[in-house]
Amino acid sequence: ADNGYKLWLEYNKVGNPQLAVAYRQQLSYVIFPAASDRLKAAKFELLTGLDEMLTLKPVDAKSITNGQTIIIGTPQLLKSFSIAVPDSIGGEGYLIKTTLIGQKKCILIAANSDVGVIYGVFNFLKLIQINQSISKLNISDHPRMMYRVLDHWDNLNRTVERGYAGSSIWNWHKLPGVIDQRYIDYARANASVGINGSVVNNVNADALILSPQYLLKVQALANVFRTYGIKIYLSVKFSSPVELGGLKTADPLDPAVKKWWADKADEIYSYIPDFGGFLVKANSEGQPGPQSYGRTHADGANMLADALEPHHGIVMWRAFVYDNKVPDDRFKQAYNEFKPLDGKFKDNVIVQVKNGPIDFQPREPFHPLFGAMPNTPLMMEFQLTQEYLGFSTHLVYEAPLFAECLQSDTYTHGKGSTVARVIKGDFNKKLITGMAGVANIGADLNWCGHPFAQANWYAFGRTAWNSDQSPAVIADDWLRMTFTDDENFVSPVKKFMLQSRENTVNYMAPLGLHHIMGVSTHYGPGPWVDNAGRPDWNATYYHKADSSGIGFDRTGTGSNALAQYAPEVKARWESLQTCPDEYLLWFHHLSWTYKMSSGRSLWDELVYHYYAGAESVKQMSRTWEKMEGKIDAERFSEVKQLMQVQLNEAITWRDACVLYFQTFSKMPIETTYPKSQHP
Ligand code: GCU
Repeated sequence: ADNGYKLWLEYNKVGNPQLAVAYRQQLSYVIFPAASDRLKAAKFELLTGLDEMLTLKPVDAKSITNGQTIIIGTPQLLKSFSIAVPDSIGGEGYLIKTTLIGQKKCILIAANSDVGVIYGVFNFLKLIQINQSISKLNISDHPRMMYRVLDHWDNLNRTVERGYAGSSIWNWHKLPGVIDQRYIDYARANASVGINGSVVNNVNADALILSPQYLLKVQALANVFRTYGIKIYLSVKFSSPVELGGLKTADPLDPAVKKWWADKADEIYSYIPDFGGFLVKANSEGQPGPQSYGRTHADGANMLADALEPHHGIVMWRAFVYDNKVPDDRFKQAYNEFKPLDGKFKDNVIVQVKNGPIDFQPREPFHPLFGAMPNTPLMMEFQLTQEYLGFSTHLVYEAPLFAECLQSDTYTHGKGSTVARVIKGDFNKKLITGMAGVANIGADLNWCGHPFAQANWYAFGRTAWNSDQSPAVIADDWLRMTFTDDENFVSPVKKFMLQSRENTVNYMAPLGLHHIMGVSTHYGPGPWVDNAGRPDWNATYYHKADSSGIGFDRTGTGSNALAQYAPEVKARWESLQTCPDEYLLWFHHLSWTYKMSSGRSLWDELVYHYYAGAESVKQMSRTWEKMEGKIDAERFSEVKQLMQVQLNEAITWRDACVLYFQTFSKMPIETTYPKSQHP
């Protein structure tokens, strides 16, 4: 076994003999003249997949054999068969259908571009991977978002900020001379789920990345990615003109600074003609930015956008800003700084907003900026790497987290203005659109550290392509492609995957608790942290537990952060009658004896969630033990061991938090839940 190196492109042998025969028959001949690099890559994938799954080597043909041929291409090829490809699928969409050409039945994969063909081929292979019939196909699909990007927080010394899967996969030392097979496999995996961009270096950027030496290395990666329709982007440090260029200032309105960036952009494009653009973290956590010169985020972003515009590049400007010198609630700062800038950004700027207002916590309400900047493109930023979700030792399937945020109703354009619709540009068709995922990839043999963490990379791609796809469907496909099609495996494992994020919320931060993890490592519990160096890094800043109760009052009697949401959302979360338990302590400070909708006191409810969370990990590992023999022994054993670690840590989280909070509540633990539910 490869211990998970092949990801969801495992291409397992089709086990059902009848099905295999049927597949082989329908795919005996292939019409797929592949002239370009991209088409060659698609064809290589098709042939590899068919060979591995079916031991099939289809015959290259020029004409159709009834019922036994697959024909693949763009209008260039297809016009000779009188097949038109509809404009409606766009440049990146594809069709997969059973069709009649001159009375002969065949399977058609059609797209308007070579990239569309790549997507079509991967999705066709998926049908076989999940053992679906291919005899009556009628699929038409296209991405709903333009920029579907992985953000690597990889440093040039190969450490990965918040990375838990080994060192960076980019071997800067050996680049550009050595092209690791991993780069190609990385690009294949991304293309298979429609990811079309990669920011290869950390948002806490090193100015050196823009030096000619590094640009040559970046160019080598870009050449690999291009074949798979993936553009390369760089995180840039705002002070690069000073650090790299020797200028006295990085003031975005200074003519010499503008010229430096314009020249740098020209230089980059001379190496990489289809370079994607810049990602910028500015005036956040000590990074330099336009505010250091009395300018706004818009001044900074637009200056870079001017430099990239002649080459069609974009600027992804992050809204993750907060500052302990600003005395207001940290929750509110991004909105306060960015909302007044709505409409002031150039067309090729997209503001990248984290899903929630604080920082990728196990559960956050959606960020109040979504819907609040109708004239500005907003790019969703999810975190795939599990900084606050147990690193790569805890099994947490994140698709339900993505869906929860994306399906939240912002009400900013009336009922039904979900976050997904906002970022898709449904309310302003002129805007560019996108979604970013902070990568969880490293040099570990299995790429992501935990075999199940691969599902988060996979689910991110699927969600960025079409945010309406359900977490259950995505998990189902991923399990079948990654492990086995055995229903006795897929069904129980899918069930616990779908519950896994809620389990972790329960044993880490239930009922709307947030930012109570260990200081700086962000691993393990730390609700007692009150000396992290600045108040907005203290756990006590967020939970505000004392003898009277617990929670952050963000209503009108408190920080009034709720006023940043549309009136309907504000009203719902402000009222204790309608605020869901999940968000309660995000917005309210309540007494320990406050009566919950369950009938329990707040204290009892809290304890109940912590215990249920730890118990659910035990249940999950029991289910896993029954999977022995259904998949390869290596991954079975690795997951089994990881679950034991997770269980121990869930118990630590539970006990640490319950005992810490008990010092304030002074209420008993044993009477709080039925004995039968005691783990
Ligand atoms: C978190 C994380 C940092 C990271 C930052 C960011 O605060 O802990 O390591 O740099 O997010 O998103 O910029």
